[in-house]
Amino acid sequence: MSARYPVARPRRLRRTPALRRLVAETRLRPEDLILPVFVKEGITEPNPVGSMPGVVQHTRDSLRKAAVEAVEAGVGGLILFGIPAAKDERGSAADDPEGIVQVALRDLAAEVGDDIVLMADLCLDEYTSHGHCGLITPEGEVDNDATLERYASIARAQAEAGVAVVAPSGMMDGQVAAIRAALDEAGHSQTAILAYAAKYASAFYGPFREAAEGAPQFGDRSGYQQDPANAREALREVELDLAEGADMVMVKPGLAYLDILAKVADAVTVPVSAYQVSGEYAMVEAAAEKGWLDRERVILETLLSFRRAGAAQILTYWATEAARLLR
Ligand code: PBG
Repeated sequence: MSARYPVARPRRLRRTPALRRLVAETRLRPEDLILPVFVKEGITEPNPVGSMPGVVQHTRDSLRKAAVEAVEAGVGGLILFGIPAAKDERGSAADDPEGIVQVALRDLAAEVGDDIVLMADLCLDEYTSHGHCGLITPEGEVDNDATLERYASIARAQAEAGVAVVAPSGMMDGQVAAIRAALDEAGHSQTAILAYAAKYASAFYGPFREAAEGAPQFGDRSGYQQDPANAREALREVELDLAEGADMVMVKPGLAYLDILAKVADAVTVPVSAYQVSGEYAMVEAAAEKGWLDRERVILETLLSFRRAGAAQILTYWATEAARLLR
């Protein structure tokens, strides 16, 4: 006799908001979010980033205010990107104690240091005249090992300025080990490392290059960032970074790399974060502006998808706004 009614009815648990809330497998909280912020040396007014509506290059003052707003919304972390007034071949401003990131870190440490985790991107592309993430040899190659010494020095400068977590994003081989050693030798054994472990050479970084003024002046980053064709290689990068002393690892970009995120989250026991990058932000803002997407629902749905795929934390330019929506 064939059953007249389905015995299993998954819809029973979807019937009311209260039921759905009770059985939700994934939760998204304000403290899971990390806000990336840009601070530019020598400007007196915040400077809007054209390709990222709602995002600005901050002054020291407007940055302090944005940090306080993030804290009030319950955001868990803040990651700082600096844009120096002057660039040179070796990115001298990156490790200058009076460089913009160090100055801004001291401001923020004093203002919100106990209330939010202060992080800094550790790279050279915003500081070099050629826009690459490392030093360039006379032959025009990115010099891996010479770059490591620069990263070590930047890590020391950021730690001195009060950063809690440094986040190396240059994809040089051995960068985590070099930074860990430099931090430990300088007495900063408690400064943590969030490694951009699986960072792909992605077209989704387009708007960021306007925001951070770090577009490569020749060539591209395919010689050091990962090939979007590869997944197993991401696991190798993660393994190496953990062996070198990374405390946390990141997958970047976000939405187009949820498979990588899920694999990495399965493979490791450290916290894994996902970076919802500038191009992802710009796509949603552009479509919403045209009235083609429900902006707030799309924002929260994408953030939830990172958590579902295994991210413990999410870097997102919507962090403060999303945190408010979640409250
Ligand atoms: C490098 C860096 C980049 C981003 C974060 N760190 C740019 C790049 O690798 O070209 C991109 C972030 C984004 O697109 O939102 N310092």
